[in-house]
Amino acid sequence: MKAIVYHRYGSPDVVSLAEVPKPVPKDNEVLIRIYASTVTTGDWRARSLDLPAGFGFMGRLVFGVFGPRQPILGTELAGEIEAVGRAVTRFKTGDQVFAFPGGKYGGHAEYRTMPEDGMIALKPANLSFEEAAALSFGGTTALAFLRDLAGIKAGDKVLVVGASGGVGTAAVQIARSFGAIVTGVTSTSNLELVRSIGADNVIDYTKEDFSQSGDSWDIILDTTGTAPFARSERVLKPGGRLLVVLGSLAQAMGIGRPAKASGKTVIAAVPKITVEHMQFLAKLAEAGRFKPVIDRGYPLENAAEAHAYVDTGRKRGNVVLTVRQVAAKVEGRPRAMARN
Ligand SMILES: NC(=O)c1ccc[n+]([C@@H]2O[C@H](COP(=O)([O-])OP(=O)(O)OC[C@H]3O[C@@H](n4cnc5c(N)ncnc54)[C@H](OP(=O)(O)O)[C@@H]3O)[C@@H](O)[C@H]2O)c1
Repeated sequence: MKAIVYHRYGSPDVVSLAEVPKPVPKDNEVLIRIYASTVTTGDWRARSLDLPAGFGFMGRLVFGVFGPRQPILGTELAGEIEAVGRAVTRFKTGDQVFAFPGGKYGGHAEYRTMPEDGMIALKPANLSFEEAAALSFGGTTALAFLRDLAGIKAGDKVLVVGASGGVGTAAVQIARSFGAIVTGVTSTSNLELVRSIGADNVIDYTKEDFSQSGDSWDIILDTTGTAPFARSERVLKPGGRLLVVLGSLAQAMGIGRPAKASGKTVIAAVPKITVEHMQFLAKLAEAGRFKPVIDRGYPLENAAEAHAYVDTGRKRGNVVLTVRQVAAKVEGRPRAMARN
């Protein structure tokens, strides 16, 4: 099968198209024919080893000390089940699914096997394969931080810093779906996008400093590393939570966290993600309350170009790789996609 592989860390040109063996599902696995995947900041980090301050050594241990252990990137994907192992009961051939191998990667290929009880769920019928492929990386991160770690509830005021990115566009929509009042911080050219996905208010960080705005929030979710506690403290309400999606090792270790007496909390984490998060997002998508934002699409073989765009740090939502173009009838809005 065709796959995009890399054998050394570095710039986007370390990834290239190759022919690799097609995987065979074990008894408890399904074989997914992949139609779409994404290039995320997770792919960028694993490819470049450009990691948040303090995580360099740990990164090599995770991704491979002398070179990448998993040569095929791709944290999330959507496609169709082509075959199932003999013990599989939850899925059948022909099911349209999305999957989130996450840190196990392997989505930038024509096929991937997944355990049936792993990170795989039925594709929402109203999403294209490209949109379904982009459900998980930003969506599960935003959901886990907002719901599991911050306990978001209706009426909360939420500030999303980095509202136009992969995690940010999901966070704005998910926070809204919980009934929160959402302000998105973004640059001038993305203000309209952030409004269009449901933000009640927007702040243009090139013109205004959110920490001087006079407003205050119950939850601040920072995907950019630009809203540390020292800057956010005064605009966090009593009991407020700062969610550090992008932070240094020092922050993860608790250095610089407020004293308990302050009543404010800093939560820096890589949250645990389960298939329940994916199923929750699928239901939200089916209800029309979450739709992944697609910025650009590239054919699989142009993956290096997609990586170069993601490397700019300026993508809007998600960058999709089309692995196999199929005619997909999306419920509620027929949509033509070219054939291979
Ligand atoms: N902790 C975890 O478990 C976890 C999980 C997933 C991702 N992450 C990390 O989260 C980070 C964000 O990921 P992502 O996929 O959302 O990245 P992304 O899609 O590249 O988005 C980054 C966004 O940040 C915006 N931005 C840059 N500087 C800004 C500023 N000063 N104020 C407001 N917005 C600013 C950019 O918008 P403009 O062009 O408008 O500036 C861009 O849209 C990455 O570093 C990733 O490694 C962590």
